[in-house]
Amino acid sequence: MANKQFDVVVIGGGPGGYVAAIRAAQLGLSTACIESESYADPKGEVRLGGTCLNVGCIPSKALLQSSELFEQANHSFVMHGIAASGVTMDVATMIKRKDNIVGQLTGGIKALFKKNKVTLLPGHGKFVGREDDRWRIDVNGEVVDATHVIVATGSRARHLPGIPVDNKVICDNVGALAFDSTPKRLGVIGAGVIGLELGSVWKRLGSEVTILEALPDFLAAADQSVAKEAWKVFTQKQGLNIQLGVKITKVETGKKGVSVDYEIGDEARTLQCDRLIVSVGRVPHTEGLGAEDVGLALNPRGYIAVDSNCRTNLPNVWAVGDVVPGPMLAHKSMEEGVMVAECIAGQKGHVNLDTVPWVIYTHPEIAWVGKTEQQLKNEGADYRVGQIPFAANGRALGQGDTTGFVKMIACARTDRILGVHVIGNNASELIAEAVVAMEFNAASEDLARICHAHPTLSEAMHEASLAVHKRALHF
Ligand code: FAD
Ligand code: NAI
Repeated sequence: MANKQFDVVVIGGGPGGYVAAIRAAQLGLSTACIESESYADPKGEVRLGGTCLNVGCIPSKALLQSSELFEQANHSFVMHGIAASGVTMDVATMIKRKDNIVGQLTGGIKALFKKNKVTLLPGHGKFVGREDDRWRIDVNGEVVDATHVIVATGSRARHLPGIPVDNKVICDNVGALAFDSTPKRLGVIGAGVIGLELGSVWKRLGSEVTILEALPDFLAAADQSVAKEAWKVFTQKQGLNIQLGVKITKVETGKKGVSVDYEIGDEARTLQCDRLIVSVGRVPHTEGLGAEDVGLALNPRGYIAVDSNCRTNLPNVWAVGDVVPGPMLAHKSMEEGVMVAECIAGQKGHVNLDTVPWVIYTHPEIAWVGKTEQQLKNEGADYRVGQIPFAANGRALGQGDTTGFVKMIACARTDRILGVHVIGNNASELIAEAVVAMEFNAASEDLARICHAHPTLSEAMHEASLAVHKRALHF
């Protein structure tokens, strides 16, 4: 029997892959998406959505929301005159709600595949060769032919030697999103995005949380004034115990849980905890893809090497998302998926990595786009800064949540916005305005002249743009 033929075969059904497949099909290309059984549902059926929907963005945000409501009921309602006593958290219900959201969204992508006529091929995808200008891809024993292949195989958690992850007691993101109860003492290795988000979830629910970070600086990638504010809130107000400059020397599990030996400078210490999360970054996932058999080039760090349009070294083979260099973020993966589908269809596509926003969904949220002040200083750039605290914003006061600020940095010569950094309630939503402004090369003066609804948190963005020119009206 002849192999099934497609214009485009996508390997991997995460945000990069499923979006690429939908866009390719919208453009009239016959398209299939191969997804392995990594995230099969309870009936054993393949689930789309990859890390993001199954064990990443979506489940973590569901838990952040539940735990934040618990925190507010216990600590914030009172300032509004609302007495809430005996508030309890049923972890099983919280986890079930999270699982339902995951089920709903992953099922939704299957429906989108049907609507857009994308063929789902369940199984493991592997290059097996090229004949007549067509790539041969094996899917669990069945070979399909593709004119174009988009590799979107994503990433997996990086593990550390000597620290065996069982996803019960010692967990990466997979186990950490499925705890069946609140651990009394939670240890976390890595004070990055996952460490802070999931550390916050369990801290709010009552765990004693200790986060051990190798670097001497906290949130080194963020603007340092934001990192400083975040440090103050997380450690002093919220009681997260974050230790910097740590070297882990030994991890052992026993009857009493996990014991983590580590050093800070010359001092040796031990952390005893009931559960341990290992969140020390992610690595690109290329195992079992047959990359070496067909000569697909990887860079020295194991990512698939691509040009600015996500073309690999092989003809008509493209790669997007976490498996290629750049920020390991769902929205970046999706944008690359769209770009590649459009390039295959003969259109022009582009992804501007300089305007990809970052968000950390702690409370307060942290969001930024563009350059930090320390980067600009190091480059010797001439810039101006406008910074407005949420304490000067009427909506923030009404909401009873005035932590943080908006900081805008603009070129002193051209006034073009170079970076925007927000720490505060709803920073994840506020940053979108800055992304649009930067994508269109706006000056801070452009934002200063835009009417912002009153009273809204977005007025802090407006005031920050005015503050760049030392003419803030409300601060
Ligand atoms: P993935 O989502 O990893 O998908 C790859 C898919 O390919 C998987 O489904 C895998 O099963 C499949 N696959 C791999 N190899 C094969 C093969 N050979 N054959 C068939 N299928 C294969 N990003 C954000 O932007 N915002 C967030 O809030 C956020 N939160 C996160 C929270 C956590 C806890 C984690 C771990 C990550 C988070 N991320 C977040 C990152 C985000 O999940 C990733 O950037 C995103 O999922 C990458 O998409 P992708 O399509 O490249 O890869
Ligand atoms: P991360 O890169 O954000 O943080 C890892 C941290 O671990 C770093 O601070 C690093 O210095 C530290 N570290 C590394 N080795 C260590 C060691 N041996 N001992 C102690 N500390 C060590 O990675 P994380 O948190 O695992 O998240 C992975 C990726 O997933 C993120 O980089 C991001 O791309 C994505 N993500 C995005 C989210 C969002 O957009 N809100 C949320 C969660 C994850």
